[in-house]
Amino acid sequence: MNELKRLFNSYYSLGILRMIRDMVATKLFFPSNVRMIRQPAYIIGKRHIKFGKNFSAGNMLRLEVMDKKYARHTVENVDNLPELIIGDDVTVNNNVHVGVFKKITIGDNTLIASNVLITDHNHGNYSGENQDSPYSAPKFRKVIPQEVNIGKNVWISENVCILPGTIIGDGCIIGANSVVSGKFDKNLIIAGTPAKALKKYNDEKKSWDRIS
Ligand SMILES: CC(C)(COP(=O)(O)OP(=O)(O)OC[C@H]1O[C@@H](n2cnc3c(N)ncnc32)[C@H](O)[C@@H]1OP(=O)(O)O)[C@@H](O)C(=O)NCCC(=O)NCCS
Repeated sequence: MNELKRLFNSYYSLGILRMIRDMVATKLFFPSNVRMIRQPAYIIGKRHIKFGKNFSAGNMLRLEVMDKKYARHTVENVDNLPELIIGDDVTVNNNVHVGVFKKITIGDNTLIASNVLITDHNHGNYSGENQDSPYSAPKFRKVIPQEVNIGKNVWISENVCILPGTIIGDGCIIGANSVVSGKFDKNLIIAGTPAKALKKYNDEKKSWDRIS
């Protein structure tokens, strides 16, 4: 019992020390409106990121906002400077990767669970004109970016992938393990691979109606 208590106390003390380290790192390296970014965190292109107030993130946060400086071989077909816009009170769990070549917006109060990918680009083009060949090295194929927009009050569950060009309306819930691509109206429960709308919030009945 005493041994258990000792173990618990040492883990707890380590937890507090880590928290202090992470608070200091957040204050030193991020704008003052950021509440907490746990370490380790990997951030590329910080100058292209707009953090809303009270942003907080678990460890292994990977934000990559790639301009020509970082992506020499692949970015020449991207005209605009990339942008990552994070709204107010956004909370992100562990191991979340956001990759931006053009623009990703994450709305206010959005909650993101662990192991989530949000990306606005593919390496190469595989539909329409000028498609890439499998005989070229993927890392040298031109990046094809399409903006991603995630609304306000969205809950993104564990292990979700959000693909280029996706638009998610306010109030949506994305089910665990979903791969999301396309445009979704507000107040939907969306799940599956590929993700489909399963339920819609009924404002009069105040309940989520199944979509048949
Ligand atoms: C999306 C979610 C919120 C839906 O909850 P719900 O509406 O109460 O779910 P229901 O049980 O009524 O499911 C409705 C249908 O959707 C299906 N479904 C639910 N979640 C699904 C998912 N993630 N992927 C695929 N199908 C799913 C159900 O199997 C059910 O199908 P059926 O009609 O054929 O039986 C929930 O299933 C979920 O995925 N939660 C995520 C949990 C999580 O990641 N937590 C981390 C904490 S941050």
